[in-house]
Amino acid sequence: AVERTLSIVKPDAVGKNVIGKIYSRFEDAGLTIVAAKMLRLSDAVAGGFYAEHRERPFYKDLVAFMTSGPVVVQVLEGEDAIAKNRELMGATNPQEAAEGTIRSDFASSIDANAVHGSDSPTSAAREIAYFFAASEICER
Ligand code: CMP
Repeated sequence: AVERTLSIVKPDAVGKNVIGKIYSRFEDAGLTIVAAKMLRLSDAVAGGFYAEHRERPFYKDLVAFMTSGPVVVQVLEGEDAIAKNRELMGATNPQEAAEGTIRSDFASSIDANAVHGSDSPTSAAREIAYFFAASEICER
């Protein structure tokens, strides 16, 4: 089915100047960017986005990292977009990410892991609504 998923280019990848290379991965895989913006996350916005991880030991470092520089947030649309994006990203830990994935090629640690992608239809709906008003998503 055609789905939408929320994707974030994280501060490490923005800092490495590889936004375009990451966007090309999405486009070359047949995903369409239907919304996009660059922004600097506040503690409150990053903390709310990752609220489900609040009790995890890495939460504080995760929020600190995600607020350390600008991010680019986008909505990707396409057939099986949620799973397809997760395939393109590779494993959360770049050391475990398959060759040729975004995290294998651009990430350096489990925190600085280049990209985020929604992991289910439920989280995709929540995460898209967290960053974008319906009017900011462009029908293609
Ligand atoms: P992301 O997909 O953005 O979702 C939560 C993030 O927490 C994850 O990517 C990692 O960057 C970060 N993180 C740090 N440590 C861990 C861990 N042990 N397990 C899962 N995620 C972690």
